[in-house]
Amino acid sequence: MQKTALVVGANGVIASNLIRHLLDLGDWKIIGLSRRGGTNSEKLKYHSVDLLNREECQEKLIGLKEITHIFYAAFQDRPTWAELVQPNLAMLTNVVDAVEPIAENLQHISLMQGYKVYGAHLGPFKTPAKESDGGHMPPEFNIDQQDYLESKQKGKNWTWSAIRPSVVAGTALGNPMNLVLVIAVYASISKELGLPLRFPGKPGAYDTLLEMTDAGLLAKATVWAATNEQCANQAFNITNGDLFRWNELWPKIAGYFGLETAPPLTMSLQTVMADKEDLWKQIQERHGLNRHSYQELTSWPFGDAVFGWDYDFFGDGTKARRLGFHEFVDTEQMFYNLFDELRVKKVIP
Ligand SMILES: NC(=O)c1ccc[n+]([C@@H]2O[C@H](COP(=O)([O-])OP(=O)(O)OC[C@H]3O[C@@H](n4cnc5c(N)ncnc54)[C@H](OP(=O)(O)O)[C@@H]3O)[C@@H](O)[C@H]2O)c1
Repeated sequence: MQKTALVVGANGVIASNLIRHLLDLGDWKIIGLSRRGGTNSEKLKYHSVDLLNREECQEKLIGLKEITHIFYAAFQDRPTWAELVQPNLAMLTNVVDAVEPIAENLQHISLMQGYKVYGAHLGPFKTPAKESDGGHMPPEFNIDQQDYLESKQKGKNWTWSAIRPSVVAGTALGNPMNLVLVIAVYASISKELGLPLRFPGKPGAYDTLLEMTDAGLLAKATVWAATNEQCANQAFNITNGDLFRWNELWPKIAGYFGLETAPPLTMSLQTVMADKEDLWKQIQERHGLNRHSYQELTSWPFGDAVFGWDYDFFGDGTKARRLGFHEFVDTEQMFYNLFDELRVKKVIP
């Protein structure tokens, strides 16, 4: 049977890499959903839809009978953890309630989650976090989304999986959570001002153990979990497979940009980078870069959050390995590859 993927949140740092991987696999038809849409090709069609609008979802998705797999990776940002719940649950239910009843050959719904499931955003949490760990006090949108999927699946032929990456690294633009771009733009501006690359996080955050998830690796794992029976109705931590500390990696990243380091200095990137838009435009002009807006390139609050984790931040990735997913990525090399990609795309100097 022809496999047809509905990739929800198609322009995201996670979903855009998933689409790239599905195209590489060659045997998928792909429909991408988001508000912005995208450029269609033979195997890829974008539908522009506001997932927060239930009626619009019902109207625009009514023809999607051929969907066999739904890959959900949309995200609506909000200032508080509590406020994230309503819009993010609504987007998932609106799309699934529209497509699931009409997609007669639906086989799987994949839900993109994260370590918020383990309370990682709240403070020091148990590490390595395991899929089987106990829950924590709501509100937490990832849990509500999983509860909804689990109850919706009961008595149906399709299965679900929940994918839990650490901080995701990719080069998509216009996203509220993109650490690679945070570092790349921060380093480029530091260089422009003749400054060393200072780690801006909390003192303890420089020394803790962390891990990342490459968006390309994540895409492979997501498709693996969605298409292997032994993964049905389960959650999986998906990580690069190595750990690092900023105190070792930060000077190397500085070296990549041709910068020295100096002792960390705790500061809010959101605050200190707020007045650098004009400077960024000058950098773009002088280096012949593409004119992406400063807002499109920078997610400073996310950078502040990640650099503020003065506690260990990693999960146990062995469950996916036990069940057959054996890919890994070298995190240091991953950063260089992604910075290279940003340079080739003329996003950074
Ligand atoms: N990024 C990370 O480091 C990371 C780490 C761990 C877990 N996660 C989780 O992974 C999930 C996806 O995150 P992400 O970082 O990939 O998100 P993202 O880059 O912000 O992408 C979100 C996608 O959702 C679409 N979208 C937002 N509102 C929409 C609406 N009303 N209607 C239709 N489409 C809408 C956006 O496209 P348009 O703007 O075109 O609508 C975009 O394609 C989230 O649950 C997040 O918590 C992310």
